[in-house]
Amino acid sequence: LESQPMRRGALIIVEGLDRAGKSSQCELLRDQLLTKGHAVEYIRFPDRTTPIGKLIDSYLRNASHQDDHSIHLLFSANRWELAKHIQDTVANGTTVIVDRYSYSGAVYSAAKANPTLSLEWAWQPEVGLPRPDICLFLSISPEEAAKRGGFGAERYENETMQSRVRQLFGTLLDRQRDDVCVIDAGRTVDEVSEEIVDVAVKCISRLDAIGPLRALG
Ligand code: TYD
Ligand code: MG
Repeated sequence: LESQPMRRGALIIVEGLDRAGKSSQCELLRDQLLTKGHAVEYIRFPDRTTPIGKLIDSYLRNASHQDDHSIHLLFSANRWELAKHIQDTVANGTTVIVDRYSYSGAVYSAAKANPTLSLEWAWQPEVGLPRPDICLFLSISPEEAAKRGGFGAERYENETMQSRVRQLFGTLLDRQRDDVCVIDAGRTVDEVSEEIVDVAVKCISRLDAIGPLRALG
């Protein structure tokens, strides 16, 4: 008997502004896919556990200062240090769900309005990283976000940054639109989850047509 060729897993990215519900939705998606019999791994960026991640964590907690370009490249390096793991995991048939990725990376840095840190500049270190089979963007209005309670104390958790981030996400996701699926995250947790699971399952069923994992361009 010939053995079946191994089917690869999907790379599913979940993006959105702070308070869009990314982490809860990622956990629900993981649980739903596991229930359906898929092998799943859930990763979040920044991964604060690595040496680079610890520098990022300190910066986000306002415990240290970094040049805007330096911290940007550290966020990117934090993805590159996991790139091989993501490729291997997907190749071994496990679907990888990722909470924030290159889109947050480019958009949050460009939102600082540093004259030498454009969205284009910020995207370059991401080129070549594993490309998502689908990027689910959890979209939430400023009004709905405000209803969900105040900001935390971390860097970037303020109105000025968030409104610039919102605008830049619009620009970047339009450029990467082939990979993006916008989800209305202003609904109930269950309604949002149902749509996300539906899109994810369809994505997994399309993998043969997509072929091997691609690279971000
Ligand atoms: P966040 O997902 O909010 O982490 P947590 O759930 O642990 O609070 O990410 C922390 C912040 O980092 C968030 O404001 C977005 C920002 N960020 C970047 O600036 N660049 C990046 O590449 C990533 C992944 C996140
Ligand atoms: Mg946060």
